[in-house]
Amino acid sequence: MADDAIAEDRSLELQGPALRRLIDAAAERVVAHIASLPDQPSADVDGGAALARSLAEPMPETGTPADELLDLLFERVIPKSFNTAGPGYLAYIPGGGLPHSAVADLISAATNRYVGVFAAAPGLAQIEANVCRWLCDLAGLPPSARGILTTGGSLATFSALVAARRDRLPDDFLSGRIYASDQAHHAVRKAALLAGFPESAVREVESDDLFRMRLDALERAIGEDRAAGRTPFLVVANAGTTNTGAVDDLGALADLAARERLWLHVDAAYGGFFLMTREGARRLAGIERADSIVLDPHKGLFLPYGTGALLVRDGGALRRAHAVSGDYMPEMQEDPGFADFNLLSPELSRGFRGLRVWLPLKMHGAGPFRRNLEEKLELARRACERLRETPGIEIVAEPQLSIVAFRLARAGATGEELDALNRELMRRVNARRRVYLTGTLLRGRFAVRICVLSFRTHRDRLDEGLEHIRSAAAELSKEPLP
Ligand SMILES: Cc1ncc(COP(=O)(O)O)c(C=O)c1O
Repeated sequence: MADDAIAEDRSLELQGPALRRLIDAAAERVVAHIASLPDQPSADVDGGAALARSLAEPMPETGTPADELLDLLFERVIPKSFNTAGPGYLAYIPGGGLPHSAVADLISAATNRYVGVFAAAPGLAQIEANVCRWLCDLAGLPPSARGILTTGGSLATFSALVAARRDRLPDDFLSGRIYASDQAHHAVRKAALLAGFPESAVREVESDDLFRMRLDALERAIGEDRAAGRTPFLVVANAGTTNTGAVDDLGALADLAARERLWLHVDAAYGGFFLMTREGARRLAGIERADSIVLDPHKGLFLPYGTGALLVRDGGALRRAHAVSGDYMPEMQEDPGFADFNLLSPELSRGFRGLRVWLPLKMHGAGPFRRNLEEKLELARRACERLRETPGIEIVAEPQLSIVAFRLARAGATGEELDALNRELMRRVNARRRVYLTGTLLRGRFAVRICVLSFRTHRDRLDEGLEHIRSAAAELSKEPLP
């Protein structure tokens, strides 16, 4: 082959009109996809396993035209999924996925700058540092606080636990004990395991009737552990549990943590952005006294999946837990006003996550985010009122934020029968494909939950879902137990 032909054969460059064509083709499909979100089923994974099997293939040696690949994605693959971005997604913890962040990701990836080291892209690193500062300010943390953006709440929790461990325990840390309520997210146990603790290091503390950590039970557990020669060092509080949105008494926990010399970590992955609202700020009062806080912009700030945040009151503790360098690394600057994110986080090379938070916040300002969050609080209250008026339905957990848990009751039914009845209720509602609900176990019994958090969910869709719950409950009430 001639040199020119060889060069042509190995070229991966995509630029000029060819790049524009690919972006335009993708943009056209993305725009149509987003416009159709309200009409898409709230979930459709029928035949999903067969689809997945049909996609398995070895690495291709030759290329396929982009249009064919985009058609495959948008026509066959993406439709077989939970419609997590649509207005009917009331399952787990929704977020929606602001398209602005998708555009930000395009810019970040296309420019491919390196933000882990300040000197490599000072302005971009500063944009990400601004975002972290805004989050610290929102949580009421002092100027000493530093933050990092992670892939999500789980990784942020991992870094929080490592920071607490390095700050409070010796290198030989196996006697350390962590306290979290029976409502804590399993990310806490996973982070403890990853941080090197045995499973027994995490003590589950009972919660009260409102699913908040019981302080008397916590104090008792700490006392027992100290008496047995163990080293209590960390308490994890909830600012919005995944099950019911319960918010622990953060002020009282901060007092207790101070008395017992424990690091106070607050899991605000779901609930944290309600701090932007007056009601949320009242419920989460005391969070400003935390040693560390996890927030998930891909939940309460409505971003697409892939962005969590960890804020640490003593930025030095975050740095001491993560700062390791190598001879081949560029020189790090020493100005404390600037951030070398690789010294504050487990990651070295990574995408420019800051832009996906910065772009929508800069384009809109905080106001529309606050008003959306206020609306979600209001919609959860409305759902609770409507459900309470629905024959046969009882409320298991009233909204403390934007989650309500409920179940269909039936006189004389056993616990197992009620579980089956409620699973059937949820199946029937979901089968109508306008809203998608998930359940959980509360005190060992199945409950259905509604979590309103997407910026695309408004009263019309919520009311439609409530009507489907009402009619499915009425249907089931006329039938024998499943
Ligand atoms: C309260 C809470 N904490 C932590 C997490 C874990 O976050 P992520 O899924 O972003 O890793 C979640 C996820 O739903 C959550 O609801």
